[in-house]
Amino acid sequence: MLDWSDTSTPAKPTPATIFNSAAPSSAEQTGLGAIDRSGGRVSVDDKRMINCRADVNQLLPLKYRWAWEKYLAGCNNHWMPTEVSMQADIALWKSKDGLTDDERRAIKRNLGFFAASESLVANNIVLAIYRHLTNPECRQYLLRQAFEEAVHTHTFQYIVESLGLDEGELFNMYREVPSITDKAAWALKHTQHLDDPDFKTGTPEADQAFLRDLVAFYVIFEGMWFYTGFAQILSLGRRNKMVGIAEQYQYILRDESIHLNFGIDVINQIKIENPHLWTATFQEEVRGMIRTAADLEAAYGRDTMPRGFLGLNAALCEQYMHFIANRRCAQIGLAPVFAEADNPFPWMSEAMDLKKEKNFFETRVIEYQNGGALSWE
Ligand SMILES: [Fe+2]
Ligand SMILES: [Fe+2]
Repeated sequence: MLDWSDTSTPAKPTPATIFNSAAPSSAEQTGLGAIDRSGGRVSVDDKRMINCRADVNQLLPLKYRWAWEKYLAGCNNHWMPTEVSMQADIALWKSKDGLTDDERRAIKRNLGFFAASESLVANNIVLAIYRHLTNPECRQYLLRQAFEEAVHTHTFQYIVESLGLDEGELFNMYREVPSITDKAAWALKHTQHLDDPDFKTGTPEADQAFLRDLVAFYVIFEGMWFYTGFAQILSLGRRNKMVGIAEQYQYILRDESIHLNFGIDVINQIKIENPHLWTATFQEEVRGMIRTAADLEAAYGRDTMPRGFLGLNAALCEQYMHFIANRRCAQIGLAPVFAEADNPFPWMSEAMDLKKEKNFFETRVIEYQNGGALSWE
């Protein structure tokens, strides 16, 4: 069974990687420098997550097996949105009484949030993370993840087309709906900082900025905000509403669970190799980021579900966010930011088991994965 809920034990740094603190050149980090014809072969001990001097074009020998295993798991989970039938969703969406106005508002805002967010996450991988993460097995996973984000964006194009939604309204929500804009703008500033041509890692300040970006996107965007979005749609799916979208969200959730756990492994490995970055002050700053993100999500919940509907309302979503925020803190070794909260959506873990849910949704579930169940949270 594949289980991404607990992070793998990251590799211990070797003395050579700990004490080699001089910043490598930009070409060494990107892998785009002139080929060193007389250079030696890479040994495992030369590899590092950031600021690596070893050739980043040599995948083998592997050092971080957890990254390679997530790459394989991602490939094993391949799916396409167009293989999921939208017939029941189209009939329900076009019927007069099938959905309440509150449900329609929540669905549209949920789709609007995800439609642009998948693109923001993809841009962050390609334009901010890839260049500075100087390890080939991690880069291999980033390339897989970037493709998965393209599949997720494709999902929202397919949903818009199937339901005949206003594409301008949905894809502009991240600019036009303040509760969505606030989240997107909060995350985007981290991508902008790292995408600056003058930005390079190698100083404690810059390396902490890189960690901030990893926290903003992997822990918060994909690991917190996406989870309330999944809970909204899967809650409707449990009531046999918008079952096609619910099924697509199950596949996205399965992918995102691996993205999140990859990010957590990356952060924890960077911490092990660079303990000087994880200061008490910086830990407090990261806890503050997580607290702010939970507040932004609570505001989004109130805006999306002003009155709530069966089984779901803004207060429950806020409680769920507190539960998730504390869990994310624990995963990167931080003290909780909220008082202990019960999980108000215990069915989320079951919704993640595609085989169990297929009879519930009564839709055709494609067996994309051969063997093995995923443990989600
Ligand atoms: Fe995604
Ligand atoms: Fe993702």
